[in-house]
Amino acid sequence: MKVGVVGCGFVGATAAYAMVMDGVGRQIVLVDLDRQRAEAEANDIMHAVPFSHPMSVVSGEYSDLAGCRVVVIAAGVSQKPGETRLQLLERNTAVFEKVVPQIAQHAPQAILLVATNPVDVMTHVTVKLAGRCGIDESRVLGSGTTLDTARFRTLLGRQCGIDAKHVHAYVIGEHGDSEVLTWSCATVGGMRLNEFQKYRDIHIGVAEKTEIDQKVRGAAYEIISGKGATYYGIGAALSRIVDVLIHDQRAILTISARLHDVLGLSDVTISLPTLVGGQGVISAVPISLNDEETAAFHASAAIVREATESLNL
Ligand code: 2OP
Repeated sequence: MKVGVVGCGFVGATAAYAMVMDGVGRQIVLVDLDRQRAEAEANDIMHAVPFSHPMSVVSGEYSDLAGCRVVVIAAGVSQKPGETRLQLLERNTAVFEKVVPQIAQHAPQAILLVATNPVDVMTHVTVKLAGRCGIDESRVLGSGTTLDTARFRTLLGRQCGIDAKHVHAYVIGEHGDSEVLTWSCATVGGMRLNEFQKYRDIHIGVAEKTEIDQKVRGAAYEIISGKGATYYGIGAALSRIVDVLIHDQRAILTISARLHDVLGLSDVTISLPTLVGGQGVISAVPISLNDEETAAFHASAAIVREATESLNL
């Protein structure tokens, strides 16, 4: 149960910490261009082990990724206040051109889990780069809108007075400004949202929905302007996805994966509720959207496609 993390900035290090807290994996290998940083993070996180789960956290070179079941890729630059995720594209593609072939060379059996933004396009870049090294695209996925879905569920759960675990509502599309909150298929405790509202006498109208939408879409901007980066939410999301992958949990997650003939789209890498298991991406789950959500999803996919095509991969 060996897991690699490449890129030990806030996101990579927090993902490793979350895995230790959750007891996900038995050995974590941290790799970073800045070897001293990786070693310091490994030592710091290792000191949390006696308070959590038995495992080892070490730093290493790419060659130390041999035997990893999953490698989380969090390398590259992150957003500065006011910057969009898409503005990071060219810089992070240059980083991935160096990083992905080395991971593929040393850990050819690993599933690659991309966290670097813009995550949908970076996942597509990884599919292409890893594909050239013989890694099947079903073994490449991005964190996508997993975190946005969690943000949506948190706010909707709070509005309903219900633990977010009992809210099933998905954010799909780009992990970014054009993402789509799928209100029409949201359920709470197995009931459609409008039935639940009647049952509990709760009002979630246009104003409340708009506010939740803006809070979910703007969450990263707000956090980045307050503390410079987001990392706890995404760290927890990555730990959960790794858990699903290494234990073949067959969970439905809004990860980012390359689509083939889903909702009329092919060869674009974007998030939809997706069945994920021990071999990676199994299949996108059909989701029934209303007309407005369908149009918004297609518009979001067009934005991701345009950004991807600008790279001439
Ligand atoms: C987030 O949504 C910045 O993509 C990161 O927290």
